[in-house]
Amino acid sequence: MEHHSKHGQWSSQWAFIFATSSAAIGLGNIWKFPYITGVNGGGAFVLVYLICVAILGVPIMIAEIMIGRRARLNPANAMKQIAIQSKCRPQWGMVGGLTVLAAFLILSYYSVIAGWALDYVVQSIRGSFYLANAEVVSQLFNNLVSNPWRVTFWHTVMMLSIIVVVTLGVERGLERSMRYMLPSMFVLLLIVIFYAIHTGFFKEGFEFLFYLKFENLTSQGVLIALGHAFFTLSLATGSIMMYGAYVPRYVYIPFAAIMITLADTVTALMAGLAIFPIVFANGLEPSSGPGLIFQTLPLAFGHMSFGLFFASLFFIMVVFAGFLSAVSLLEPPVAWIIENYKLKRSKATLLVGVSTWLLGFGTIFSFNIASDFKLLGKNFFELLDHVTANFMLPIGGLLIALFAAWKMKKSFVIEEINHNQGIAYQLLYFILGYITPIAISIVLLNSIGLLAIF
Ligand code: PHE
Repeated sequence: MEHHSKHGQWSSQWAFIFATSSAAIGLGNIWKFPYITGVNGGGAFVLVYLICVAILGVPIMIAEIMIGRRARLNPANAMKQIAIQSKCRPQWGMVGGLTVLAAFLILSYYSVIAGWALDYVVQSIRGSFYLANAEVVSQLFNNLVSNPWRVTFWHTVMMLSIIVVVTLGVERGLERSMRYMLPSMFVLLLIVIFYAIHTGFFKEGFEFLFYLKFENLTSQGVLIALGHAFFTLSLATGSIMMYGAYVPRYVYIPFAAIMITLADTVTALMAGLAIFPIVFANGLEPSSGPGLIFQTLPLAFGHMSFGLFFASLFFIMVVFAGFLSAVSLLEPPVAWIIENYKLKRSKATLLVGVSTWLLGFGTIFSFNIASDFKLLGKNFFELLDHVTANFMLPIGGLLIALFAAWKMKKSFVIEEINHNQGIAYQLLYFILGYITPIAISIVLLNSIGLLAIF
């Protein structure tokens, strides 16, 4: 076994926790979580999401980091190598391949949405939101997404910057860019929460987020909550396994996984607390969809002192958070190409980057010229998001869990969990081996109507 990945290594346990938290915390927390919570009726949805994060997310994250560190290769080759060493079929590598494909597909729309946020940085600096009302703000959003040229420009800027960072490689490129990001993000979210309290509708926002109204929850909602737990923790996309490949030996993986999950979850809940009071204070609909944060936050910033300054800073943070996640989405396909086709990092990055950029047009056009082009009632963006987050990720996660619990050599797991066979180890086996496969199968089968449990 190699002791270092050929792509580099994190400099310490906290560097790894920070890096992986920054990869995990992204548009999923600030953009997606609030809007899907809004669409799916609030509290009960949030509860299912939290349960999925705690019970399914943490163990799968541990499994992914473990596999990544053990093999120190890209996800497809990592699973293949460990399968061979554990005397099972090398085809398990295809599971890693599936996750790499999911990363590629997700990145194509992720960069477009991060591009929207980039446009909002410029609009904030220009003062477009100053004293704007709900109508003006939603007009500003529509002007942006209905203009394919403008969105293409920002999508291109995003993809180019991601390509540059990934070309530079792990330590030089990534660690440096994230040191200040997370702390500033927390502070800015707190500022918006203070504003949200000041609107007088904090209670309504809080209740929407935490009061359990099970009548609002549908089987699709449960599926979306499950998919989002994977999406927000960057699971089953190769991203965590890839970052795991750079983890030093002395890091205690369960601790790291719990810290990363906590940071991610707290950020999502803070985003919810920041956004929903503003929604209710302005008579907006929580279920307005992907434009939610772009139609609510400017209202807050437009009416607070130093709003222009905070708005610029906030959207810069959103861009940054999105950017670091995007970097972690590009990394698995790039490492996969480097290892399998012996291409140079720069060439592989360019190849994947340009392909993702092209695919991104599907999402760009979903909000303008191709908005009526629908399959199964969904436009291209919705379909891509649905297939990746709600099917590819849970299925990938299920297979990773089965692999770690039933296929991977026990001695490998014991070594990766610091030679400790105590309660954490037992629990891990039980959850990965039984709970995860059963729970994911039930939710999936139920959502496609093959089981009618809820
Ligand atoms: N977890 C990221 C977010 O919440 C998105 C992401 C998914 C990043 C998968 C990497 C891999 O925004």
